Amino acid sequence: MKVLITGGAGFISSHIADLLIENNYDVCVIDNLSHGKLQNLNPKAKFYNVDIRDKEIFDIFEKEKPDVVIHNAAQISVFSSVKDPLEDASLNIIGAINILEASRQFGVKKIIYPASAAIFGEPEYLPIDEKHPLNMISPYGVSKHTVEHYLGVYKKLYNIDYMILRYSNVYGPRQDSSGEGGVVSIFCEKLINGQTPCIYGDGEQIRDFVYVKDVAKANLMAIESNRGGIFNVCTNTKMTVNNLFGYIRDLTRKDIRPGYVKERDGDIRSSYMTYDKIANEIGWSPEYSIQTGLKETFEYYCD
Ligand SMILES: NC(=O)c1ccc[n+]([C@@H]2O[C@H](COP(=O)([O-])OP(=O)(O)OC[C@H]3O[C@@H](n4cnc5c(N)ncnc54)[C@H](O)[C@@H]3O)[C@@H](O)[C@H]2O)c1
Repeated sequence: MKVLITGGAGFISSHIADLLIENNYDVCVIDNLSHGKLQNLNPKAKFYNVDIRDKEIFDIFEKEKPDVVIHNAAQISVFSSVKDPLEDASLNIIGAINILEASRQFGVKKIIYPASAAIFGEPEYLPIDEKHPLNMISPYGVSKHTVEHYLGVYKKLYNIDYMILRYSNVYGPRQDSSGEGGVVSIFCEKLINGQTPCIYGDGEQIRDFVYVKDVAKANLMAIESNRGGIFNVCTNTKMTVNNLFGYIRDLTRKDIRPGYVKERDGDIRSSYMTYDKIANEIGWSPEYSIQTGLKETFEYYCD
């Protein structure tokens, strides 16, 4: 089976590509390397250095005829989306529609799409499930969610199956410090270099950190499942930023304390999500404990 991954030189997608190739899938990747890196790319993946908004996308789909598309290429920074909402929408909405149109024209059977917890704003209840009301507080939240609607429409109009995976904060090797779960890579890099990381607010804000290899496994299972719709991919584990810092500091064995600075506008106090639906319908649950995931991540940054 052939799987085309957009954004495949990036953090999450490169782990998905590795796992699919390990499982004998034929993988091709489209990435314009605006944020991804060539060294993340699995050498067995066929690579196209193209912008997802480009018309050349149609030639690639015609040539490759993928069965499944994992559409991960996106502008991923909430702060950039506030600064430049036009560029955010151009990449995250118009780029996605270009991929959907190419999928429609060239017979793609299923699209897997990563949504984000950025669509919930300050949660009304916890843990967040798939029915939680939406309350976007950034252009990024709006652009990521808009594509969820398009996927629903393409299913109705053209019967293209889809699965939306709503990730909590993904962390792991190859992440850079600007992403949604970037705090792990920031803490690792600063502590390894003997610098003082800063924590916004009192550090008691709660997050749900899911390891990237668990996320890759969810994508593999999504390809192999005949289910569709929206599924949370998360751990339902409450982790404060202070606790996270403590775990990483223990790995460094350095006595460094964080510096506390004023909390950022729009920062959500507590967010964690339940994965009951994907566990019941597809059989996915996270396999990596935070300790194991952080240890692997930390070792990656030490190299
Ligand atoms: N990291 C998280 O915690 C998280 C949480 C929820 C959802 N997501 C979603 O998962 C996906 C992957 O995120 P990531 O953290 O791996 O980010 P990433 O930046 O590492 O990966 C995105 C990739 O897309 C590529 N890209 C960007 N614009 C492009 C364009 N116009 N044409 C072609 N390629 C382009 C980049 O070069 C990069 O390799 C994104 O859609 C993001 O919204 C991430």
